[in-house]
Amino acid sequence: MKNRTIFFEKRPEGKPTEDCFRIEENSVSEIKEGEVLLKTKYVSVDPYLRGRMSDRKSYTSGFILGEPIHSGVIAEVVESKNADFKEGDFVSGLLDWSEYQTTTGKGLTKVDGDAAPLSAYLGMLGMPGLTAYLGLMEIGQPQKGETLVVSGAAGAVGSVVGQIGKIKGCHVVGIAGSDTKTNLLKNEFGFDEAINYKTTNNMRKAITNSCPNGVDVYFDNVGGEISDGVMMNINQFARVPICGAISQYNETRLTTGPRMQSVLLINRALMQGFIVHDFASKFPDALQQLTQWYNEGKLKLKETIVEGFENIPGAFIGLFEGENIGKMIVKI
Ligand SMILES: NC(=O)c1ccc[n+]([C@@H]2O[C@H](COP(=O)([O-])OP(=O)(O)OC[C@H]3O[C@@H](n4cnc5c(N)ncnc54)[C@H](OP(=O)(O)O)[C@@H]3O)[C@@H](O)[C@H]2O)c1
Repeated sequence: MKNRTIFFEKRPEGKPTEDCFRIEENSVSEIKEGEVLLKTKYVSVDPYLRGRMSDRKSYTSGFILGEPIHSGVIAEVVESKNADFKEGDFVSGLLDWSEYQTTTGKGLTKVDGDAAPLSAYLGMLGMPGLTAYLGLMEIGQPQKGETLVVSGAAGAVGSVVGQIGKIKGCHVVGIAGSDTKTNLLKNEFGFDEAINYKTTNNMRKAITNSCPNGVDVYFDNVGGEISDGVMMNINQFARVPICGAISQYNETRLTTGPRMQSVLLINRALMQGFIVHDFASKFPDALQQLTQWYNEGKLKLKETIVEGFENIPGAFIGLFEGENIGKMIVKI
């Protein structure tokens, strides 16, 4: 059967470019006993993949040059010689960027396309939704009446964080990179305030204005100067979950900013980095809560869907240009 696969061709220096990837035509082998043949339906592109393209030490091993790239994928079982799966099942798993592939079924989870759109299992009801919920609830611990600020607010994680903040009764302020995004945050997701960081020249002041009672929880997706401005407004006993630092991912040199020790000390604040898998034991309960809120209409699903297998690298690169609203997904 004719197939295409995307390989890791070159390590990026700075922002990833199309030539870091190579699309190759190949063929899929016959499946053996115990295996399934999968047809890819949706591919998740995520900022963390940038870290895996680097040879710097990280929490997970990097991609190997010349090997296929992989990420979260929703696929259809088109042939099965594995008793756990039948033709027509939809599954999610960490899979290659390939139109078709065979696997043993290890690590695959069945997903229900009737309960939610299949793509939702890569976003709100998948890894980004769990990241938002667990990072916020476990470290941020938002209380009714408190002020929550979230950066990267119109993205996959950020849009869910802000909506949960509203469910929990917080004053929610989002930071994002366009007026379209800030309007969406306020008008569709119910945020109280939204700041376009690209047209704001003093983030510290903008946060002071939109957070009259200071900042109790800062859910940080971006790091850098945006976060410097937010941190100057934190309250005593503030909680700062460090989820991501996308503004730094393409930096080739270590950047220097304000030193935060005094701010944390004076305010007896907590700043804690986390990786969603730290909370793996809590995934089932978190997923149940997210699904319930989604079914009740309290969490709105937002996605940017790019079509076409050959457009996976471009969609990934687009994350660093802010081309997505909600979860960036490629439909095959
Ligand atoms: N700790 C974990 O376990 C975990 C899990 C998932 C994700 N994350 C992290 O969470 C963050 C959000 O991930 P996501 O999947 O939800 O991605 P996302 O927010 O859907 O997409 C990335 C967004 O980042 C913004 N961005 C790009 N370059 C930027 C820059 N230089 N400065 C500020 N903003 C920039 C863009 O929005 P604008 O238009 O607003 O610039 C873009 O749309 C990332 O840092 C990611 O690495 C961490």
